[in-house]
Amino acid sequence: MSARILVIPGSLRLASHNRRLAAEASRMLALTDAVVTLVDLADYPLPIYDGDHEAEAGVPENANLLAQRIAAQDGLLLVSPEYNHSLVPLMKNTIDWVSRVRKVNGRPIQPFKGLVVGLASASPGRFGGMRGLEALRTVMRALGADVITQQCSVANAASGFDDDGRLSDDVARTSLEALVDRLLDTSRSLGRHG
Ligand SMILES: Cc1cc2nc3c(=O)[nH]c(=O)nc-3n(C[C@H](O)[C@H](O)[C@H](O)COP(=O)(O)O)c2cc1C
Repeated sequence: MSARILVIPGSLRLASHNRRLAAEASRMLALTDAVVTLVDLADYPLPIYDGDHEAEAGVPENANLLAQRIAAQDGLLLVSPEYNHSLVPLMKNTIDWVSRVRKVNGRPIQPFKGLVVGLASASPGRFGGMRGLEALRTVMRALGADVITQQCSVANAASGFDDDGRLSDDVARTSLEALVDRLLDTSRSLGRHG
């Protein structure tokens, strides 16, 4: 059975290393029978979460749209930078808003509950953003996601990709391939739409 996988990079920057890593992971996934969608969070702008905003105006439509997209997947790959050893605000704010979606078209949904999630990061630094992934893992677990143990952090990312967007380092490439394989296998077996 083919799995539906959504890939979300946690950076808006045009030359983002994480966007490049997300694109490369999507390319690898597209070589399989998976149905892959690469999302750009620039297409889903959201205000900083504010309880007064939610009380007055409800959850923004972009959060509802993202929640619906996520709920329709078997697996999710989050590809995110780290800031100050933790989760970046774009990713956290997006997850926070989506976690506030309770119903879509009158039907209750819990977009992250039981969702198979893989994590990856890239950084120009030598840890590749792996400390941020620990924070992201904690958040996703809190929401009931099934976060796979395998993860991929690309260090020295400024020189980590060739002109075609492929990972130039063998260790990094093998790590991403292993993550993609595990995400796919787990999404096929535990995915919500089988
Ligand atoms: C506020 C801030 C904090 C940062 N903290 C870290 C850090 O803790 N570890 C790290 O490896 N890089 C850190 N960086 C550098 C980012 O990894 C770098 O800007 C990276 O290119 C961002 O990801 P992107 O290329 O996908 O946009 C930080 C950058 C900013 C702006």
